[in-house]
Amino acid sequence: MKRHLYRTIAGLAIACCVTAYSHAPAQAGEVEVLHFWASSSEAGAVARLKATLRAQGHTWKDFAVADGGGGLAVVLLGSRVKSGNPPTAAQIKGVAIQEWARTGKLSSIDGVARAEKWDDILPPIVSDIMKYNGQYVAVPLNVHRVNWLWVNAAVLRKANAKVPTTWSEFFEVAEAMRRIGVIPVAYSGRSWLDMGTFESVALGVGGPDFYRKAFLELDPAVLGGPEMEKTLETYKRIKQYTDGGASGRDWIVATDMLNRGAAGMMIMGDWAKAEMVGAGKRPDVDVLCVPTPGSGGAYSFDIDSFVMFHVNEQNRQAQSDLARAVMSKDFQQAFNLTKGSIPVRLDVKMDQFDECARRSRQDFRNGAKRGLLLPSLAHGMAQPAHTVAAMWEVILQFWNQDRMTAREAANRLVKAVKAETPTSHAR
Ligand code: GAL
Repeated sequence: MKRHLYRTIAGLAIACCVTAYSHAPAQAGEVEVLHFWASSSEAGAVARLKATLRAQGHTWKDFAVADGGGGLAVVLLGSRVKSGNPPTAAQIKGVAIQEWARTGKLSSIDGVARAEKWDDILPPIVSDIMKYNGQYVAVPLNVHRVNWLWVNAAVLRKANAKVPTTWSEFFEVAEAMRRIGVIPVAYSGRSWLDMGTFESVALGVGGPDFYRKAFLELDPAVLGGPEMEKTLETYKRIKQYTDGGASGRDWIVATDMLNRGAAGMMIMGDWAKAEMVGAGKRPDVDVLCVPTPGSGGAYSFDIDSFVMFHVNEQNRQAQSDLARAVMSKDFQQAFNLTKGSIPVRLDVKMDQFDECARRSRQDFRNGAKRGLLLPSLAHGMAQPAHTVAAMWEVILQFWNQDRMTAREAANRLVKAVKAETPTSHAR
């Protein structure tokens, strides 16, 4: 018996080492990755990446900063880079990729990208964001859709209401939910979440062209125009359907309110879906997903990506392996099944994904063809963080101050943007 046990242990030890050896890369290195994924579903998604890298013989060093939306992570990254000790990779996205690339601190991953034919795999709207001076300096992990409305199906039934597709229907449903004693809207009052709701309202009220002119071109006539006034009024109207604890609330808490049926509806990107699934809710059955009212086939996107910093030769191999792994079909599928988002590669099959993800993929694909893909303002895809922050200050004041009119807020929005972007035409 004992001998059998020893033999088994010895066998296992050999198997382990052979396995480790066969997976060992030419040069094992370390990847230290800064990210702000800390909720249980997000940590699950990161675990997929750690496992992939470890299986290649590299060491993973976690640099996790628990802060949804990533504001704090960016600050900490700044000080690490300043002190000459950058991580291997960092979760930086959108406009900030270009800002970081301009500092000269990023390392090109164009060699990997060319070898793996990323240009053929990625939609141009995505690859453009990942490149600086024509070279890839970032690798995308996923596509999150921001303009989602989530509805608790049981609450909706009880309220005897139908999923809203316009803003007037939204407020009717909210009334019906209030009548049955449920908080109509699970609201998270944090900067990036306020802005996420605000941009979704803008997309529904003003449409894609308005969104583009206001948030991408920062056209003062549109930023301060009648559509913006209407957007602000509609946004503020949501407030009466939220509860007293909304200010400062974390998105995970709001998602939990929706899951439990304490609240009936929530406007948020599909990272929230991952937490719903974690709580045993079935997307499109227990919690319904529809584009936010009026936004239809338009799609505001938030793409998570890693930028790479200059590292020593030994870790350079690990860094390239990280980039390659992130873009592999297997990883894109596994990561996004856990994360709530969809693969950034359009050649990954969707048969294992839920109905909401499939709809997201379809709208993303159609949106690309019809010019309906819009970079999310709230998630740094459209403007630098300081411009978004200046806009948020105005939005927040408007939300909090009952005496401020929508006209006044629209005028202030123009001024705030002008102060932040002296070279734009928002003068
Ligand atoms: C977003 C990010 C998502 C998700 C969310 C909440 O900015 O792109 O991946 O994690 O924040 O933390």
